[in-house]
Amino acid sequence: MKIAILISGRGSNMAALAENRQGFEICLVAADRPAAGLETAQKNGHRTALIDRKKYPAKQSHEAALADEIAAHDPDWIILAGYMSVLSETFISRFDGRVLNIHPSLLPDYKGLNTHARVLADKKTHHGVSVHLVTAALDDGPLLAQMKLAVAPNDTETSLSERVLALEHQLYPAVITALAEDFVHVEGLNVRWSDTSRLRSIAGGVVCFPPLD
Ligand code: GRF
Repeated sequence: MKIAILISGRGSNMAALAENRQGFEICLVAADRPAAGLETAQKNGHRTALIDRKKYPAKQSHEAALADEIAAHDPDWIILAGYMSVLSETFISRFDGRVLNIHPSLLPDYKGLNTHARVLADKKTHHGVSVHLVTAALDDGPLLAQMKLAVAPNDTETSLSERVLALEHQLYPAVITALAEDFVHVEGLNVRWSDTSRLRSIAGGVVCFPPLD
């Protein structure tokens, strides 16, 4: 299975995917702005593309150029890893909805930015990470899996973001392996797991399956 990864920043999830490739290969790492993660990807020998948003007059023409670049590499899935733009329905349907995102919260709670600070401000007892199918709405779309942690009394925004990021690096490669090895099935917006214990064992932590748990 081939994946194209879209980034906008440091690319630590992209690097975790590269290190934990089981059943999939990375055919392209693309960014919408000059991103530190592109250098990491180049050093790791991946094909990279910078489709700079600033060089296009409108979001639509930027997205079309990005989609053409991705299509040339013929990926099975497009994996958003810190990609900071909301994709349109036109883009998503061009790839048959096979677009995945990771978000640092227990969706549907805390869509958008600054999730760790908002969780702390609300004195939540739990926090975590979600992997979901991408729709044209921000951080929406059916969930594939989540991992959660207990917020500690002394947690700060920094400590929480580090702990959640570690979970991201465990969960994302494991879910993509599940797609590659066919123990999760996605048809349109329907997600069906046929072996949840296998994901738990690959991810190595507390994994929740929203349709089941
Ligand atoms: C991660 O927290 C991811 O969940 C969010 O953006 C951040 C990207 O981090 N969507 P990195 O670029 O993968 O290090």
